[in-house]
Amino acid sequence: MNTGSSLKFSSLPHGKSDNLEVTEGYTATTLIRWGDPLFPGMAVFDPNTLTAEEQKKRFGYNNDYIAYMPLEGSSSHGLLCVNQEYSIARLMFPEALLKNYGAALGRIEMAAHGHSVLEIRKEAGRWRVVQESRHTRFLNGLDTVFILTGPAAGHARMQTSADPSGTKVIGTYSNCAGGKTPWGTVLFCEENVDLYFSGTTSDEVEKGNHDRLGIKKKGRYRWAEFDKRFRIDEEPREPNRFGWVVEYDPYDPQSTPKKRTALGRLKHESATPVACPDGRIAIYSGDDQKNEYLYRFVTAKRWNPQDRAANADLLDEGTLSAARFEEDGTLRWLPLVFGHGPLTPENGFHSQADVLIETRRAADLLGATPMDRPEDIEAHPTTGHVFVSLTHNETKTKANKANPRTPNPHGHILELIPPSADHAAEVFRWEIFLLAGDPFDAASGARYAEGIARNDYFSSPDNLAFDPQGRLWVATDGMDEMLGVNDGVYAMETSGAARALPRHFLNVPLGAEATGPEFTPDGTTFFLSVQHPGDNKGSFFDAPSTRWPDFDPSLPPRPSVIAVTREDGGKSGNRMLAAHTA
Ligand code: FEO
Ligand code: CA
Ligand code: CA
Repeated sequence: MNTGSSLKFSSLPHGKSDNLEVTEGYTATTLIRWGDPLFPGMAVFDPNTLTAEEQKKRFGYNNDYIAYMPLEGSSSHGLLCVNQEYSIARLMFPEALLKNYGAALGRIEMAAHGHSVLEIRKEAGRWRVVQESRHTRFLNGLDTVFILTGPAAGHARMQTSADPSGTKVIGTYSNCAGGKTPWGTVLFCEENVDLYFSGTTSDEVEKGNHDRLGIKKKGRYRWAEFDKRFRIDEEPREPNRFGWVVEYDPYDPQSTPKKRTALGRLKHESATPVACPDGRIAIYSGDDQKNEYLYRFVTAKRWNPQDRAANADLLDEGTLSAARFEEDGTLRWLPLVFGHGPLTPENGFHSQADVLIETRRAADLLGATPMDRPEDIEAHPTTGHVFVSLTHNETKTKANKANPRTPNPHGHILELIPPSADHAAEVFRWEIFLLAGDPFDAASGARYAEGIARNDYFSSPDNLAFDPQGRLWVATDGMDEMLGVNDGVYAMETSGAARALPRHFLNVPLGAEATGPEFTPDGTTFFLSVQHPGDNKGSFFDAPSTRWPDFDPSLPPRPSVIAVTREDGGKSGNRMLAAHTA
């Protein structure tokens, strides 16, 4: 085995368990589960009697992105900011209730979506949620009001019968990944928003727009049956109010969350801010669908490290670009600016608002490079190199050099290299960091460092995190489908002899996706979202494939956030992931 890696934990075998598994020497504890009370004095969770009003006060479904925001710089006391991406009715409700699906259950689903803020504290080596906290809030999908800001706010295409101002939106849906700004706000991203709407529209302006985003006559959710907001024949502009990046201040429980339209409208997986040498902020984001694009937004102004309030609306002004990967290993950022190139009235763009509302179509016209489903993006904490997960594209028919396999069932990770760490530069270099899949199957085309062990390869890279030592942690989504084993977490160096040599750390239970990886600033705790446990074919509330984490016959599986620490971490004072020797 290649021993150049600073990661010393022993590799976990690939798993098929109905339970969570972490490599030896570490403990995973469940911090909060779907339905757990956010506030003191609430009853024990019972999914059979849940109401929408109650769900608003309980932890939402399918937790995804996690941001740990320290309180007073602490790595043992902070705010946990968590996305609740989507709902799965067949795992949330018993058959007896589902038979009569209507507004009551639909409104619970809406209320289970959003983004929550929890205060957490580590005492005697164990994390707990502080229910008696002034910080607790749930920005939910049922009745939280979000303000639209930036160039598309208030535009006629954002106005609806319920909101003639075009600036106030109820709810947020499909909140996948996110990011943290240098001034301590949190970004979260609206991803698969097409699935919430149903119908067809005769609106000449919006028809092509909705088709390009993928809105179908019958959406995945049934909310259109009881709420006309989700019927595009009646409210053709409502979908334009979703598909944005949201910014809010977790330290101010009264702060209004803002949908920042300058960052474009697409199926945003993530939004990763990085400071440029001149003080402007670059934000990377991927559009997670087959053959969609990678984007970058650069603020017009510099951020102000001395005056937090001065950065409040920094994200409302700047330049959004789409990426074109050239065959010669350069990457060119193509600005999506109204009036430039093809982004003109002849092509249906009459303002920057039009360009932002139809970001995908604008990027089509500029010749951006189709990608194998861009998921998370993270910049290395010291080199500034930018790592991009392309999860998979198993039905692809046409390759390009940055997405070289056709089809690509296992995905890959790209490394983008900005010149002199200037994230605002027009031209970068790029390399393939690794090609995922089974390296012992020559036909897979997988490529890692020499010496990869049988336990350590993966498929379908999704969310990424760097630990304080600059090692890349990859959470996967799709290994059950692509390799027949559970999803998990894999860690690796990004330079030196052990570059792209993964080591297998954790398996999530059957049917689950590993997502939202996040470290405390000192690296001693690793948080992870275990999303959609039990989401296997034929698995439902009354007969699920797992009842993780409770294994209580009266409860379905429950999406949960876990905290992973070293078993002797408290005693030895060793950094969890640096000091373990196998
Ligand atoms: Fe919500 Fe692209 O994963
Ligand atoms: Ca994801
Ligand atoms: Ca995913």
